[in-house]
This record gives sequence, C-alpha cells and structure tokens, in this order.
Amino acid sequence: MRRELLGVTGTEPIGTYTLLRLERGGLEPGVPGQFFMLEAPGRLLPRPMSLCQAPPGELAFLIDPIGPGTRALCALEAGAAIHVLGPLGNGYDLSVQRPLLVAGGIGIAPMPYLSERLGSPPALVGFRTEAHADAARLLLPQAEIAVDPQLVTHLLPEDPGDVLACGPEPMLEAVRDRVPTAQLAWEAPMACGYGACFGCVVEIDERYTRLCIEGPVL
Ligand SMILES: Cc1cc2nc3c(=O)[nH]c(=O)nc-3n(C[C@H](O)[C@H](O)[C@H](O)COP(=O)(O)OP(=O)(O)OC[C@H]3O[C@@H](n4cnc5c(N)ncnc54)[C@H](O)[C@@H]3O)c2cc1C
Ligand code: FES
Repeated sequence: MRRELLGVTGTEPIGTYTLLRLERGGLEPGVPGQFFMLEAPGRLLPRPMSLCQAPPGELAFLIDPIGPGTRALCALEAGAAIHVLGPLGNGYDLSVQRPLLVAGGIGIAPMPYLSERLGSPPALVGFRTEAHADAARLLLPQAEIAVDPQLVTHLLPEDPGDVLACGPEPMLEAVRDRVPTAQLAWEAPMACGYGACFGCVVEIDERYTRLCIEGPVL
C-alpha cells in the first residue's frame, strides 16, 4: 500500500458514469475488489473507489457522480494530479472453478479488472435505465444485461457456479439468498480506508467489524 500523487491522463463518459484514468506511478493494481482512496479536489476526506481497469502504466476508476466528491473527481481534466492511496482491503478470491460475475449499477466498477484476471467469464449486469446500461460495454461481449423492471437476479441460472458480485445492498442480499456461497463486495462510508477511523463499522454474524480491513469482499 502506498500514497502517491498521480497525474490524470484523461476522462471518458461511459453512459451516466465517468471513467477516470490516472498514471499508475509506483502503485500496484492489487487484487480485483480491492479499493483505493482518491483525494477529490476541494474535499477534506478521500473517497473509496474500486479499481476498474489496469491498462499498462495506468489505473482507471469508473465513477458515479452522486455527490460533491464524486462530481469533483469526474470533473478532473488531463494534466491535473490527485493523491491516491492503495490498494486497500480484501479483494475477491480468484481460485474459483466456474466464475459468474454479477453486478448492479455502479457495482460494475470492479468487474472489468476482475473479468480480465479470470479470463473473461460470463457476467450478468443490471441497471436502472438504458443510459446507465451503456456501462455494460466495459464487459462485452460476455455480459447479459437486465434493465429495470427486470432485475439482474432474474438472470441467475439454476446452477450459477461460483458467483462474484458487487452492487447495492438489496441486490447483494438477493444474491446471497439464492447463492449462499457467493463472494459479495459490500459498501460502507469510509474516511480512512485502513482501519483508523472506525467509520466503516458494520455488523456481520452478530459481531462488529471494520469493512475496510475485513472487506469489502466478504
Ligand atoms: C470499498 C468501496 C468501493 C467503492 N467503489 C466505487 C466505485 O468504484 N465507483 C463509485 O462511483 N463509487 C464507489 N464507491 C462509493 C463512493 O465511494 C461514494 O459514492 C463516494 O464516496 C460518495 O462521495 P460524494 O462526496 O460524491 O457523495 P457524499 O455526499 O459523500 O454521499 C452522497 C450520498 O451517498 C451516501 N454514501 C456515500 N458513500 C457511501 C457508501 N460508501 N455507502 C453507502 N452510501 C454512501 C451518503 O450518505 C449520501 O447520502 C465505493 C465505496 C466503497 C466503500
Ligand atoms: S474506513 Fe476508517 S476504519 Fe474503515
């Protein structure tokens, strides 16, 4: 884990999201599902982001502009530079026999890097609107797409194999009900990303834990 000032090499709109590309510097891309803390211009606290793509010499993050921090990150332009800390947390266990990727909304963010590392397995992705669903092109041709009112869990086959999922909590709970062995990437507000602030404490199996160090993949 390192913290470095990384140059912005560019941004690209992907449906309603933005792909932010940074120089890799001396940072390792880590295991898919791990995350980085990105310092957004003008914001005191960094924002956690999953690595989306790891092209040579770069790290790329897919960002949903839902608030001031994410909007500031999406507004960055080539030539700017931001501090980035990572990789952090625990990613997906890649020793799976029959991987099936399942993502909802911005939960698609870690999937392109995960797909690359697992040799492009099948993927199921769900979105609220057709505009959001444009992000599925990051996983084509192997992605099957559901758009509301159809849910991504409707696409789960009878025997889904080894499910690796990321998405909103109700989706993760629905996946867990169908596939209790699924690896799930959870979210919680995070201020530090390395266990110091206790901002990310969640209750798991009747015990409190810091999601940034025990997760986000559980
Ligand atoms: C491990 C991890 C990986 C993530 N990866 C990505 C990613 O790849 N791409 C991406 O776009 N986003 C990702 N997120 C979510 C992202 O970090 C938040 O959306 C961002 O911090 C919001 O900052 P903001 O200033 O834009 O909005 P804020 O004003 O901070 O938040 C806007 C609203 O979202 C809620 N919120 C903020 N953060 C979270 C959270 N983590 N969980 C639940 N609700 C929250 C706030 O309570 C508020 O209602 C990830 C979060 C975690 C924990
Ligand atoms: S984000 Fe600070 S302890 Fe987890």
